[in-house]
Amino acid sequence: MNEKEYTATNILILHGPNLNLLGTREPEIYGAVTLQDINRNLSKLAANADIKIDFFQNNAEFALIDRVQLCMTDGTDFIIINPAAYTHTSVALRDALAAVKIPFIEVHISNIYSRESFRQHSYFSDLAIGVISGLGVKGYELALQYALDPNQLHN
Ligand code: DQA
Repeated sequence: MNEKEYTATNILILHGPNLNLLGTREPEIYGAVTLQDINRNLSKLAANADIKIDFFQNNAEFALIDRVQLCMTDGTDFIIINPAAYTHTSVALRDALAAVKIPFIEVHISNIYSRESFRQHSYFSDLAIGVISGLGVKGYELALQYALDPNQLHN
């Protein structure tokens, strides 16, 4: 694959509906780690890399869309998004990401392709740089690692 020319310096982590319940929500699927744990871990990694990171979770589609639109003026240069259930329903959130033209990675904690058929279509994947699905909460960290250094192999 070609060398990527961007490295992110101002990253937005977007969490869709019901992800505020991580830790207690269907732990057999999503595990025991909370959203606060995930964000704390990403904050540390971002601080080590000396980059800015912001977090936003909301259960409302319009609030997520408004936050994406804000990226047109707040300097965000990379988005890591778990659209949660809106993955499978939201043309509007897809359109917001297409409008701002900011590169993004789509993350899912579970493997959406091994679950119910209605979860096996995403309105985001064809616009995304890449998709991480099924690697648990580690997926967020891997996405951040990629955003920070898309060309680097770590050994
Ligand atoms: C999810 C998968 C979605 O199908 C589901 O609606 C979620 C979480 C995941 O992270 O595995 O809320 O995006």
